[in-house]
Amino acid sequence: MWFLPSHNLLGAAVLAVLCSQPTAASNAQSPLVHPSPSGKGSGLWASAYEQARELVGSMTLEEKVNITRGFAVTDNVCAGNTGTVPRLGWPGMCLHDAGNGVRATDFVSSFPSAIHAGASWDKNLTHQRAFYIGKEFKAKGVNVLLGPNAGPLGRSPLGGRNWEGFSVDPYLSGQLNAETVVGHQAAGVITNLKHLIGNEQETNRRPYFGAEAVSANIDDKTLHEFYLWPFMDGVRAGAASIMCSYQRVNNTYSCDNSKLLNGVLKTELGFEGFVLLDWSAQHYLGSANNGLDMIMPGGGSFGQNLTDAVGNGTVPEERVTDMATRIVAAWYLVHQDGDNFPKPGFGMQNLSLPHEQVDARDPQSRPIILEGAMAGHVLLKNENGALPFTEAPAMLSVFGYDATVPKTKNTDILFNLGYESSPEMAQAVLGTEAHFDQAARGGTIVTGGRAGANGPAYILDPLSAIQHRAYLDGTWVNWDLESGTPDVNPASDACLVFINAIATEGWDRDGLHDNFSDGLVLHVAARCANTLVVVHAAGVRLVDQWIEHPNVTAAVVAHLPGQDSGRALVRLLYGEAFFSGKLPYTIARNESDYGAAYAPCRPEEGDIDLQCDFAEGVYVDYRHFDQAGIVPRFEFGFGLSYTRFEYSDLAIKPDEKLLHAGASTYVDGLWDIVATVQATVANIGERDGAEAAQLYLGIPGDDSPPKQLRGFEKVPLHPGEEGVITFELTRRDLSIWDVVGQSWVVQDGEYGVYVGASSRDIRLTGTIKA
Ligand SMILES: *[C@@H]1O[C@H](CO)[C@@H](O)[C@H](O)[C@H]1NC(C)=O
Ligand SMILES: *[C@@H]1O[C@H](CO)[C@@H](O)[C@H](O)[C@H]1NC(C)=O
Ligand SMILES: *[C@@H]1O[C@H](CO)[C@@H](O)[C@H](O)[C@H]1NC(C)=O
Ligand SMILES: *[C@@H]1O[C@H](CO)[C@@H](O)[C@H](O)[C@H]1NC(C)=O
Ligand SMILES: *[C@@H]1O[C@H](CO)[C@@H](O)[C@H](O)[C@H]1NC(C)=O
Ligand SMILES: *[C@@H]1O[C@H](CO)[C@@H](O)[C@H](O)[C@H]1NC(C)=O
Ligand SMILES: *[C@@H]1O[C@H](CO)[C@@H](O)[C@H](O)[C@H]1NC(C)=O
Ligand SMILES: *[C@@H]1O[C@H](CO)[C@@H](O)[C@H](O)[C@H]1NC(C)=O
Ligand SMILES: *[C@@H]1O[C@H](CO)[C@@H](O)[C@H](O)[C@H]1NC(C)=O
Repeated sequence: MWFLPSHNLLGAAVLAVLCSQPTAASNAQSPLVHPSPSGKGSGLWASAYEQARELVGSMTLEEKVNITRGFAVTDNVCAGNTGTVPRLGWPGMCLHDAGNGVRATDFVSSFPSAIHAGASWDKNLTHQRAFYIGKEFKAKGVNVLLGPNAGPLGRSPLGGRNWEGFSVDPYLSGQLNAETVVGHQAAGVITNLKHLIGNEQETNRRPYFGAEAVSANIDDKTLHEFYLWPFMDGVRAGAASIMCSYQRVNNTYSCDNSKLLNGVLKTELGFEGFVLLDWSAQHYLGSANNGLDMIMPGGGSFGQNLTDAVGNGTVPEERVTDMATRIVAAWYLVHQDGDNFPKPGFGMQNLSLPHEQVDARDPQSRPIILEGAMAGHVLLKNENGALPFTEAPAMLSVFGYDATVPKTKNTDILFNLGYESSPEMAQAVLGTEAHFDQAARGGTIVTGGRAGANGPAYILDPLSAIQHRAYLDGTWVNWDLESGTPDVNPASDACLVFINAIATEGWDRDGLHDNFSDGLVLHVAARCANTLVVVHAAGVRLVDQWIEHPNVTAAVVAHLPGQDSGRALVRLLYGEAFFSGKLPYTIARNESDYGAAYAPCRPEEGDIDLQCDFAEGVYVDYRHFDQAGIVPRFEFGFGLSYTRFEYSDLAIKPDEKLLHAGASTYVDGLWDIVATVQATVANIGERDGAEAAQLYLGIPGDDSPPKQLRGFEKVPLHPGEEGVITFELTRRDLSIWDVVGQSWVVQDGEYGVYVGASSRDIRLTGTIKA
């Protein structure tokens, strides 16, 4: 069932972990937590709640029930439309898929995907990306933007949706989710932080063909310290809604799980917004009491039955009032009342039918899209001065299916679902076992597949960007984008090989590399002493098949850059811009190095009750590699630049009083800054650069990984320039989740403080005593 590691050391380490902490197994249950807490309207929600209580106070029961469900409409193609309250002039809301832009419509932009933003390690840029994406949703009349993504995090590197999130690391994911929530909502749209929780695989994510969906069995400590962590950041940042996930947690469907929704989310995290069903996810009438507030795309088990259930006492009317209040409060929170917002869904028209041009793009977003595209490229290898090109090459040879545009970008389903380069994905039926070529061989990829994808305004593909540059420089360009064994002109100054790794919602990946692409790289490298490999990747892509080849002088993971892909790349190659991205995950030497969670859980023949025990706890990605002593090929946080950075002057200032203030709940002091760490970073090379400096903590005790990311800042520096970086550590950053006390506690003992350029390139170390 699971991919068993052959590594002996790894086996021993995982066993040790299993013994030292309780794990959730197939008999795991979620206790009932009732009643569902009503939203309080505290903090930033105060005035939104005041307004919502007034409006909802004048609604009848039918009207309140009406806005907790979806209705099919014919005048827009939003993924969902809520009911309306015509009597009071409440217009309802359009809900629509999101990721790197507005999906399935025209006159919008393709921004870099979340994994690309994650690789930028840039909070400011991520915030601006979110703001301009949000503006496009608003311009189209989309009230609720179905994102960002705090889960899946990427327990299995094969996960089909990992690219829709920023990183497998909960801290990096949490920080960038918070920036995104604030950015989207500042633009006037409701975010929908998804998918709560444990939606770590596409395989059996829903009940299909008589089998229940997979049950993600997660122990309480792992839930808090890993999977819930980024949701905490998003909720704190004001996320106005949360999407519950398709699969089961501890054998109860997430959208019916009162421990999760009433307990963890609405009580512990004090969430004041509404919980939205993932489309047609499994739920029941009783889900209302279990904390679910809105269902989509139709009436599901609510509608008239919910009204009747109030009548016969099954659901208290107070609960329905709370559901409606949470929904309307979210609407007020981002100021969608009055003339502030267009008619819901007005710009979301069927592209096959006559429709008005509704251009959602703001010219001010253009530099953000290009900057973002550049910032998520990660330079893995750069030898013999391969990059940047210091003078214009006389001859460039370009190879690989990924160098050019896909054949179509039109009104069809391929366009809607981001599958232009991998048409076979669009044909597969959800819930069936489908296997795809790891490479999307129909052209370059700028996003992954399905709900997190969108159609770009245009695609500046690598080859055409290179051709434009050749026009300016008088470069001779050769290309063969077909053959796996192309001829190579020996007079080439450089050979660029473009390959990719695609992933999509709906199915997990079959592997982390493909033979055709690896064969192409090796074929070219055998004939060209200066071979540069560019990999567009919707997730981890292994490179061991060729990375050590002496003729592979440079390698770039170009992730999913959005519509400015080729222009961004050419600027980087020619040194008009610099590489500053770093890996938001680990690239292993071999699949087996990822350990027990490498592959998604799969049912045995006839198994209709698939159990997936998250027995590895928090030992996922680098936490696992560090713990098990496995050397990765390129570690978490790794990325080269065109310059060199020196770290110095570590200064650690704990706030002794706050540090020893005792255990904390979510609201009580968890976000106090208990220590400040400073370091100086200097650019000691010859070229401009920006360094994403990272801080890791070693939390004392046997139950915590050797290192965990707890701070990062990206600082742009000219040659000879230095900058002081300040990391602020909150009480949560130093805490572990105490399962017995149900609180976050700072451990007594010595905390290791590690500041450096990656998770394995630590330049400065110190300690905090607690
Ligand atoms: C799931 O079960 C585990 C093991 O019994 C328990 O530690 C955890 O709190 C449960 N989580 C939820 C959300 O029910
Ligand atoms: C419920 O919403 C639908 C769809 O917008 C609308 O046609 C209907 O009038 C609403 N019902 C009530 C009771 O307001
Ligand atoms: C964020 O980026 C924008 C545009 O690049 C810049 O104007 C602004 O000063 C930056 N803000 C911070 C806090 O760095
Ligand atoms: C409403 O409840 C009735 C009686 O319990 C049930 O038969 C019916 O399927 C429910 N309708 C929906 C849409 O769930
Ligand atoms: C109450 O009404 C709901 C919806 O029609 C129905 O499913 C449920 O069985 C009823 N319960 C009782 C106790 O009558
Ligand atoms: C758009 O219109 C076409 C042609 O009438 C129709 O086949 C298609 O189903 C419509 N799409 C949506 C999403 O409504
Ligand atoms: C790729 O090549 C390896 C080694 O030659 C082989 O074992 C494997 O089956 C091939 N995989 C595919 C998908 O062709
Ligand atoms: C590197 O490329 C040169 C052609 O420039 C070729 O002669 C040589 O064999 C290649 N090296 C390897 C290890 O393939
Ligand atoms: C990866 O590990 C597997 C199992 O140990 C082994 O069969 C395979 O050859 C390894 N692949 C590479 C590229 O080293």
